[in-house]
Amino acid sequence: MFYNGAMALDRDLHIAVATAWGTSATGPNSAWEMLSATGVRGLRVLRESGAFARLLATDSGGPASVVLEANVARYADRGATSRRWDARAPAADGPFDHVDLDPFGSPLPYLDAAFASLAPGGLLSVTATDMIVLAGSDAPATRRRYHAEPVHGRLGPEAGLRILLRAISDHAEARSRSVHPLVAYVRDHYVRAYVLVGPSDRPAPVGTIATTTWEGPPLRAAGLAGPMWLGPLFDREFLERLQVPATAALPEPLARLLSRFRDEAVADVPFYYEPNEIAKALRLSNPPRTDRLIEALRARGRLTGRTHARDGAFRTLGTRSEVYEVATALAMGRPEPVVPPGNGSRTPHSGDP
Ligand SMILES: C[S@@+](CC[C@H](N)C(=O)[O-])C[C@H]1O[C@@H](n2cnc3c(N)ncnc32)[C@H](O)[C@@H]1O
Repeated sequence: MFYNGAMALDRDLHIAVATAWGTSATGPNSAWEMLSATGVRGLRVLRESGAFARLLATDSGGPASVVLEANVARYADRGATSRRWDARAPAADGPFDHVDLDPFGSPLPYLDAAFASLAPGGLLSVTATDMIVLAGSDAPATRRRYHAEPVHGRLGPEAGLRILLRAISDHAEARSRSVHPLVAYVRDHYVRAYVLVGPSDRPAPVGTIATTTWEGPPLRAAGLAGPMWLGPLFDREFLERLQVPATAALPEPLARLLSRFRDEAVADVPFYYEPNEIAKALRLSNPPRTDRLIEALRARGRLTGRTHARDGAFRTLGTRSEVYEVATALAMGRPEPVVPPGNGSRTPHSGDP
């Protein structure tokens, strides 16, 4: 559903985030696109968000650099400059209000330079495409590179996003700062997060999950999963301010993605349920329908919403036993009792932060 024109959609979202963030930032703002390739992302954000008065676009070289220089030169009057630069080192002309880190593979080699170049309170965006490592297909590499135990199978990519957020949070903590995710999401071959980096005012919601006592969706992991980010992926107030840019290349898919983010942000807890996995666990002959499950959990007062991470899947503040009870009742054709809404929640994470 969300996978066509992945990069165009991803850049549309970047423009939406920069626009919403820029309206509350003090400005005039500066940005550094650390790994620019041809510069399309940075230049679109500069032109279409109006959030920046200055953009530095760097790349280490290769055939794209000639194109980068030519592309950026066209926007010199808008404050764009380009340079060949090894982005593992901070750019000399920082700090920047926004730093974007979008590598092939792991962002870890660039995080120190990103943090060193980010102004206090700045916006950092980070992509990781090393999903074989983050999402559990090569657990020894996850342990070596990210010092974490991955989750295998369908929930592996979300665990990968959370492991990445923990790595970003660790870098912040080492500089006595903390991260606040505005939007963090999973797509087919990568994960990406937009975080504000501010003063460190409380412990980061980071920890491991003991998979045998965990009350959320079942996780395939070796005893402990993580350490990973167990806090929210979204800032609900910020999501309300995101709008589809007039210049979006893919306005309808972006509108659907934003609407899905808003849906799931009401139940922004680690990991999601899928009807077919529930049916497998309960040995039901047919998976219950997602909309019926959501309706029944909400009728019990449990905040529940569809997730962007997989079509047909949902997050809930209900416990696993509640989800299973509801699914069993639906499979047996029993109406679910309606319970007046309470606070409706399992704790956002019953892990071990
Ligand atoms: C995934 S692409 C960037 C895509 C770009 N952000 C976009 O949205 O179009 C990664 C880029 O990183 C560049 N690169 C690789 N290592 C680098 C380094 N150490 N410093 C700077 N750029 C580097 C590559 O040349 C490549 O152009």
